[in-house]
Amino acid sequence: MKKILLIGNGAREHAIAEALDRSRHEVEIYAVGGAVNPGIKGLSSKYLVADVCDIDAIREFALEVKPDFAVVGPEAPIEAGVVDMLLDIEIHSASPLQTVGRLESSKSFTRDLLEKYKINGNPLFKVFYDEEGLNNFFEQLEGAGFVVKADGLKGGKGVKVQGDHLEDTEDGIKYALECLKDCGRVVVEEKLVGQEFSLMSFCDGQNVVHMPVSQDHKRAYEGDKGPNTGGMGTYSDADHLLPFLTNEDVKDAAAITKNVAKALFEETGCYFKGVMYGGFIVTKTGVKLIEYNARFGDPEAMNALPLLKTDFVDICEAIISGDLADIDVEFENKATVCKYVVPEGYPDNPVKNEKIEIGEVPDGVKVYFASVDSGDDGLYLCGSRAVAMVGIAEDLKEAEKLAEMAARSVKGPVFHRPDIGTNSLIDKRIKMMESLRGG
Ligand code: AMP
Ligand code: GLY
Repeated sequence: MKKILLIGNGAREHAIAEALDRSRHEVEIYAVGGAVNPGIKGLSSKYLVADVCDIDAIREFALEVKPDFAVVGPEAPIEAGVVDMLLDIEIHSASPLQTVGRLESSKSFTRDLLEKYKINGNPLFKVFYDEEGLNNFFEQLEGAGFVVKADGLKGGKGVKVQGDHLEDTEDGIKYALECLKDCGRVVVEEKLVGQEFSLMSFCDGQNVVHMPVSQDHKRAYEGDKGPNTGGMGTYSDADHLLPFLTNEDVKDAAAITKNVAKALFEETGCYFKGVMYGGFIVTKTGVKLIEYNARFGDPEAMNALPLLKTDFVDICEAIISGDLADIDVEFENKATVCKYVVPEGYPDNPVKNEKIEIGEVPDGVKVYFASVDSGDDGLYLCGSRAVAMVGIAEDLKEAEKLAEMAARSVKGPVFHRPDIGTNSLIDKRIKMMESLRGG
């Protein structure tokens, strides 16, 4: 019997719970979430409703349950020190300690780490602690364009990109000064142009094992329009690549992650145990790093975990014991398309407490619950991304068709992006990369 403590209540954690539940070991899941996720609840022996950063509540629950190990889904509890607290009471996690979780929670730490250890992938960047040299650096970036990053976890809201959120240098400097005032540090960097992709890797501190590559869609509406969201959907091809990427691109990204894992240990004396999720961008001059996350991506987890052939409990235990090199981690060669169904008005003004009904979902689709409440008479929207529909098939065309049918089946005040995973959107990505690489 393996008792596992799972922290987080989104669709990503529903996918984690399902992967744990598929284990050949007998598994009991003990869940902690800010609200009840009906999918996780159905798979768990006990469910504590508590803030996922409430160290005291989680400690008490963990002392009572005495799990064999823990998995922490979201970034906030990692930054808040939940993994550290668990280790203090001798519970190991397949998630990183705070010190190495800085890979996600501090953008300056990660940029400086790559620079110090001479790892490829940084754009032109500078970390500022005061305004000295700020104007000059913005002048240097004129022409290339700039990005200003508040240094901390801001739920994706701290990054402002010229052309999207900031007009000109004057705007950029103003926002950089705001960030300095706010937390005493700001990262200013060159704006990169290309196609973004996500490469998640299991890491035991010394060994890294890569998952299928996927691409998220941050904008709320079709054609990559509208406000930024937590991610409206993702796709990944049957060869675990993306149609606009070469094998070399993925090898380059994988090498960055391997080197960063090594550098992290040298720098901190602490092994990174968990998932290193690199947000990369392939540009005219090769693969660059946008950012690292210290956890599974959401929705990216839904492209990888359902394809896992290897026992996920074994993988978590190997991450913890440092034995990842001893197991073969395999994924089915299937294409996946994930489409999130979200409330009308999401992300700025979402409707809440409205009922939704999931209609007929075709075979080959996995349904993962996120921000929905299970009432006596059905599911109710809670305001954030509601349900993830994942089509799994031999090729992208079929996977897209399945995810689309499932997303459309949901009745209620909701929307999704019909274009995610379609040929026409993917063709645009391919053409963009052809023109960048050729030009
Ligand atoms: P991050 O929180 O660092 O992932 O940034 C959020 C989003 O901002 C990314 O997904 C990119 O779309 C964009 N972004 C961040 N850094 C850069 C950069 N140097 N060049 C272009 N876009 C960027
Ligand atoms: N896919 C975006 C994230 O997980 O942060």
